[in-house]
Amino acid sequence: MKTKIIFGIIYLCLKVNVFSQDLDPRIEQKVDSVLSLMTMDEKIGQLNQLNGFWDATGPIPEEGQSLNKYNQLKAGLIGSMLNVKGVKEVRELQKIAVEQTRLGIPLIFGFDLIHGYKTITPIPLAEVSSWDMELIRKSAAMAAEEATAAGVNWAFGPMVDVSSDARWGRVMEGVGEDPYLASLVASARVIGYQGENLDRTNTLLACPKHYAGYGFAESGKDYNTVSIDDYTLHNFVMPPFKAAIDAGAMSIMTSFNVIQGVPATANNYLINEKLKKDWGFKGIVLSDWGSIAEMITHGFSPNPIHATRHAFLAGTDVDMEASFYANHLKDLNTQNIVSTAKIDESVKRVLRVKFQLGLFDDPYLYCDETREEQIILSKENRDLVLEVALNSIVLLKNDTNLLPLTGDKKIALIGPLAKDKNIPLGNWSLAADSDSAVSIYEGFKNLNINFEYAKGVNLVNKKVSFPFATHLNITNTEGIEEAVALAKKSDVVVLAVGEDAFQTGEGRSQSEIQLPGLQRALIEAVSAVNANIILVTQSGRPLDLSWENEHVKSIVHAWHLGTESGNAITKVLTGEFNPSGKLPMSFPRAVGQLPIYYNKYKTGRPSDPGNDIVFWSHFTDVEEGPLFPFGYGLNYSNIKIENVKLSKIKIKEGDSIKIEVTIKNHSKVQGSEVVQLYIQDLYSRYVRPIKELKDFEKVRKELSCYLLAFL
Ligand code: BGC
Repeated sequence: MKTKIIFGIIYLCLKVNVFSQDLDPRIEQKVDSVLSLMTMDEKIGQLNQLNGFWDATGPIPEEGQSLNKYNQLKAGLIGSMLNVKGVKEVRELQKIAVEQTRLGIPLIFGFDLIHGYKTITPIPLAEVSSWDMELIRKSAAMAAEEATAAGVNWAFGPMVDVSSDARWGRVMEGVGEDPYLASLVASARVIGYQGENLDRTNTLLACPKHYAGYGFAESGKDYNTVSIDDYTLHNFVMPPFKAAIDAGAMSIMTSFNVIQGVPATANNYLINEKLKKDWGFKGIVLSDWGSIAEMITHGFSPNPIHATRHAFLAGTDVDMEASFYANHLKDLNTQNIVSTAKIDESVKRVLRVKFQLGLFDDPYLYCDETREEQIILSKENRDLVLEVALNSIVLLKNDTNLLPLTGDKKIALIGPLAKDKNIPLGNWSLAADSDSAVSIYEGFKNLNINFEYAKGVNLVNKKVSFPFATHLNITNTEGIEEAVALAKKSDVVVLAVGEDAFQTGEGRSQSEIQLPGLQRALIEAVSAVNANIILVTQSGRPLDLSWENEHVKSIVHAWHLGTESGNAITKVLTGEFNPSGKLPMSFPRAVGQLPIYYNKYKTGRPSDPGNDIVFWSHFTDVEEGPLFPFGYGLNYSNIKIENVKLSKIKIKEGDSIKIEVTIKNHSKVQGSEVVQLYIQDLYSRYVRPIKELKDFEKVRKELSCYLLAFL
């Protein structure tokens, strides 16, 4: 089977119209007329966002601690809320805003819709492994459909922070290490959330975050200092944000970090100049949780008034949780430090979005109990999530073609993650029911596979939730013996290992990224009695799998795949689905290599293969390069890229070049391949990376011949 691919300049060719930053004069007129009725207090109220009454996703800043939120709501002093979900809760608060405030301006309800609402999709980083933008768009649209059915109309996502440091816990929410791939994903997710029109009941406001530089926290430690130069800022950090804005995102969230000496939340260059002026952004700039208050802790602002002034004048329109705007903006206005015109401009942004969302026409547009009941966890949503999960799995190793499993083998399923139904849901599964993921054990049962099971060791100590050191402190080795006995009498062992969902996510950075606890001891014991080990790894970050790579024949990296996790993993293990995922982040050989990324610069003493002298850029104690690089992933076919043809071999600035390749499958197993186009600018006024992804295409063929019968 041959397929010809022609690369040209493509951008995201999704089949939907994109919501745009263009202003609608009818909406603008309405915004002006509402604005003209508002008092200064009511205006500032629109710029104040507070957490709901139930869950919290951060520490409550001091000024917000003694608030009577109900009184504030009734006085029209809150414009939007977060962490309020479910039609009942949303309706209750919306009713206060609409019926008890003087002007009846509706609230917007924000939520961290990071990987699905109740039907949980693979974590964002996993989805990027699919390199399938249409699927990623559909996944976001499904999440929007469910969240809006539960009253939510503002998604605090997509997270579009490029990062190449697997120690950073938030890589699980992100877009990987490549700015081009990240930009396509950013735009697909924004389009998925917002659709063609924001006022549909099943679309919501997207909020790309965290603007900007958050993914470059030093040593991958969350909230840490970021020191990047302009070149990195513009070449690595900004492209996905720009793509998200071009895709019509109508809000954006600032980041916690300082960037080039100034907190991102008060960064005039980033917000006023780049975002609002150059990119023509017409939506809401939202601070991160309490990030205006944190400007004091950063040592930038001596007091709340200073912080309010600098964040607001730099262009941050809405204050999430700090209550600084609510408490200090009016004084700054009275003292003529912040003009009324400037306040009006921010209020207009909020009102504009409320009109776009259709909330002025119907404040209860997203409060439909019937939709809530019917849509959430529907069969269609589960089917979609399964498809996304299948496409997110990356086959890292398959020596002696141990995979796919065949029905004539005696199979052992071993490991702490084999039966787990919660960890696969991943870190940001706030609305999911606990233990609602399909485990691998259940996936095996669903496909009628004959197998025997042993847990081996625990991954976490369920009696302890925090701090993580004790949560992961596993000392009980008793189960290893049973696992070894089972492995001994089996032909092949599927070993399900990995990380807890709460080892990644916000505030969950780690200095080590190997399999935690006794899992390595388990692999060692089992591999001593059975050479046919298939390791299924689940995690929210790239892991250091160097040791495992030496000890097992196959490795299937399954991330945290969400609700349908076990079904997807089983279908890949049996070959019912031929894996097609490609890594969006490099897997290092050792934690000391981090940050590690393929699009690095050459240096004056590059680490070229064959360099055998000491004085070149390398570590003396670890082999150069990643264990598994960006863009890597195997399948069960034998697909080769052949006949590369270039229309020209030299081009000048402004010219284009056509590249043709033939994709040939030399096996009988149908499969998919992601053909990736990289370039290198050999000499340039500003040095360029040794490789830059510029285009790719996922070539698919329906699979037919690896359908195995275990019946
Ligand atoms: C996170 C944001 C999140 C916000 C609201 C912050 O701590 O950094 O990503 O949207 O909390 O939950």
